[in-house]
Amino acid sequence: MSSDGFKPPVYPYARLDTLRQRAGEAPGGIVDLSIGTPNDPVPDIVVDALAKAGPGAAGYPRAVGGPALREAAAGWMERSFGVTVDPAQVVNVIGTKELVASLPHLLRLRDPSRDTVLYPAVSYPTYAMGAQLGGCRAVPVPLGEGWHLDLSAVSEEDVARALLLWVNEPGNPTGSQSAAAPLGEAVAWARARGIIVASDECYVEFNWDDAGEFVPGATALSAGIDGVLAVHSLSKRSNMAGYRCGFLAGDGDLVAYVGSVRTHAGMMVPGPIQAAATAAWNDDEHVEVQRARYAERRRYARSRLADAGLVDSGGPSSFYLWVRSADPAEDGWAVTARLAETGTLVAAGDLYGDGGAGHVRIALVEPLDRLELAFDRMSVTDRPTVPTGGSQS
Ligand SMILES: Cc1ncc(COP(=O)(O)O)c(C=O)c1O
Repeated sequence: MSSDGFKPPVYPYARLDTLRQRAGEAPGGIVDLSIGTPNDPVPDIVVDALAKAGPGAAGYPRAVGGPALREAAAGWMERSFGVTVDPAQVVNVIGTKELVASLPHLLRLRDPSRDTVLYPAVSYPTYAMGAQLGGCRAVPVPLGEGWHLDLSAVSEEDVARALLLWVNEPGNPTGSQSAAAPLGEAVAWARARGIIVASDECYVEFNWDDAGEFVPGATALSAGIDGVLAVHSLSKRSNMAGYRCGFLAGDGDLVAYVGSVRTHAGMMVPGPIQAAATAAWNDDEHVEVQRARYAERRRYARSRLADAGLVDSGGPSSFYLWVRSADPAEDGWAVTARLAETGTLVAAGDLYGDGGAGHVRIALVEPLDRLELAFDRMSVTDRPTVPTGGSQS
């Protein structure tokens, strides 16, 4: 049965399928640096907590999260940012992707007078998809200096209609650095215009400066909780992408509203996962281990970019490198195809918006020996030179 209604576009990463197959045919097999799914071990404390989740975890869980989990999340916010969040102002989510995809819909139901979602022009594709699914206009905000939002570029009409502004620092795919000043400016700008801010801070544990030194990242809640929601995930911080758990915290009315709707809809993080997530938020040691892994891979990969004919043009944070070709004539898809021939799959930049078309994103999710293999194979300096004028068979 056909219809004239919404037709989902091809899923962004499915656009890489042909090149994924090509990369798989290379000697040594594929090194897949296309998707930001962590491949490092889940911390032992998490596995233990999951295994030990007793009969208490077998009943229907609370949609907003049980008291221990909400307290653990609030405790982590306090340790990380010095921000005091009442555990009652925390709502757990089944991974943050589903929240990103559903929040515009929920907010539009609450305030039908506004219909526009503002989001970074080069960003995680689900911001735009969530707007569409919520029946809203998705309006990209250009990025300026340091890949931060250039809010001065938003038109008066879009401002008047804006329901929600997404901010994402450290940024995917750009690697923009999280800092209090740009976040505070975004919050002040939005608050003055009656726009809710949702700050997706899922890469905040991986925040480096230009010298590669770790600097504690910021939360938008430091600019005050009024009209602000901070969104956090265990997928990156604790390698728990497959467990599906994150939370949002902030403005009391908004959090209560989202928690209430999600309770009606039965959006529940399973009980045993809540137990595992509680252990993860209560521990920081495993995050230091993971941060050291990404820092080492970042240093290594950046040192090899020139060999591969690539130039780093992203920010210093997250576990992505946002790069372009040293050859201005080679766009993101051409780079992606070239690297796939050598067995490495990266993500063409236009998966993150038209403004990303000149770039590719390299996700540093494979161990160092696999990155070495990848860069050795893609090295343009080691590649045999093609004789000019001769025939190639
Ligand atoms: C910016 C950003 N937000 C949210 C997510 C979703 O993470 P999860 O649903 O695993 O919490 C991702 C995952 O890649 C992301 O890059």
